[in-house]
Amino acid sequence: MNPETQVPHVRVSDVGRHEGETVEIAGWLYNLRRSGKICFPQVRDGSGLIQCVAVKSALPEELFETLKDLTQESSLIVSGVIREEARAAGGFEMDVDGVEIVQKVSEEDPYPITPKEHGVDFLMDRRHLWLRSQRQHAIIRVRHEIIKATRDYFDNNGFTLVDTPIFTPAACEGTTTLFECNYFDDEKAYLTQSGQLYNEANAMAFGKVYCFGPTFRAEKSKTRRHLTEFWMMEPEWAWATLEDIIRLEERLLVATVGRVLDRCREDLKIVERDTTKLERVKGPFPRIHYNDAVRILKEAGREFEWGGDFGAPDETELSNRYDTPIFVTHYPAAVKAFYMEPDPVDPRLSLSCDCLAPEGYGEIIGGSQREDDYEKILHRIREEKLPEEAYDWYLALRKYGTFPHSGFGLGLERTVAWICGTPHIRECIPFPRMMHRLRP
Ligand code: 4AD
Ligand code: MG
Repeated sequence: MNPETQVPHVRVSDVGRHEGETVEIAGWLYNLRRSGKICFPQVRDGSGLIQCVAVKSALPEELFETLKDLTQESSLIVSGVIREEARAAGGFEMDVDGVEIVQKVSEEDPYPITPKEHGVDFLMDRRHLWLRSQRQHAIIRVRHEIIKATRDYFDNNGFTLVDTPIFTPAACEGTTTLFECNYFDDEKAYLTQSGQLYNEANAMAFGKVYCFGPTFRAEKSKTRRHLTEFWMMEPEWAWATLEDIIRLEERLLVATVGRVLDRCREDLKIVERDTTKLERVKGPFPRIHYNDAVRILKEAGREFEWGGDFGAPDETELSNRYDTPIFVTHYPAAVKAFYMEPDPVDPRLSLSCDCLAPEGYGEIIGGSQREDDYEKILHRIREEKLPEEAYDWYLALRKYGTFPHSGFGLGLERTVAWICGTPHIRECIPFPRMMHRLRP
């Protein structure tokens, strides 16, 4: 409610509940069409877009003239009656009877992002403004829904959110992608690559836990799948086996995709997602053992040696055979992190699983059963030449009530990219950090 005018202040997403009433909407001028004695400002307020109808005779002359020439992204407060209009995007329009211009964007320095095409670098340099565009806005709203869906899934299935630290003394996922920083006097700290190691401690305290936070990798790869700062949803489950977490991943993905289809129809339309492909995401998902994956790749004519890790084209080759996400299981221990439990059937392999999204989006989840034996994991730490003293607390978990346990990490931005069908991961986080991008 505006205390001066007593007019209720509403958001565009709520106008449907105010049909026939005079209300106020505060926002930014998205677009404007004029025709003689009438103009049609489109106002966006972050919750939606509404077309307003301003008739010259209904407004003070000077105000009408200002409104008619108002520049894109000027901030303003419009008031008027909400009217149902079947042809309008949201189903409603406003007949304007008052306007307060909060700031007119200068004509000399106009808003740089216009409806014409812009190059990606131009837009990325103006990411702080680009986020206002419909498509970017829709992607970030889907991201928000995915976060809520995954959190709800874990919350409703007995997992407790236990946050893990960002400054850490040791690597989780190999030393080559560590971001190092000075931690006061002589100590070095690293930005976390994954909350997993702390999750394992938390799982011993709470049984079923998850963390959700930013993770960092100094990836020197300029691909459409890599960020240096990305967000990961990581559950860790006491007494769970590889089989248990594969089934958990399946249920989580089906629930998440279903929820986005339910609640983000408009956003998926804006990003022009072919939703029939998402409708097919129903479990169970196919599983491919590493050995079979190697055979399939060879049969497809790819040069691939048993023992290696898959590159993006290999993943695409495997996942293109299916409509749904797939699981590739039992990767060679040598290409995976030190903490993975070896496969009892073939100890060269590990009890690991990657989930590959369809349509060429590649790995969205990495997970495994964890080595729970003190001597064996110490051996792996030494084999990888990791600094033993930095892992003393982690090793202690294998001394005080060790237990079988498993977990995984779902990369948020890759999941958003797949669900939205965006070609590059950079649009799936508000402010992407990549090898050559630290600004804005
Ligand atoms: O497979 P990763 O490295 O697994 C882990 O970090 C485990 N410690 C997780 C766990 O078991 N708790 O990474 C997990 C996921 C990948 O599948 C991918 O989706 C995403 O994180 N990811 C990245 N996303 C964007 N940019 C990068 N540079 C990424 N690296 C990994
Ligand atoms: Mg991985």
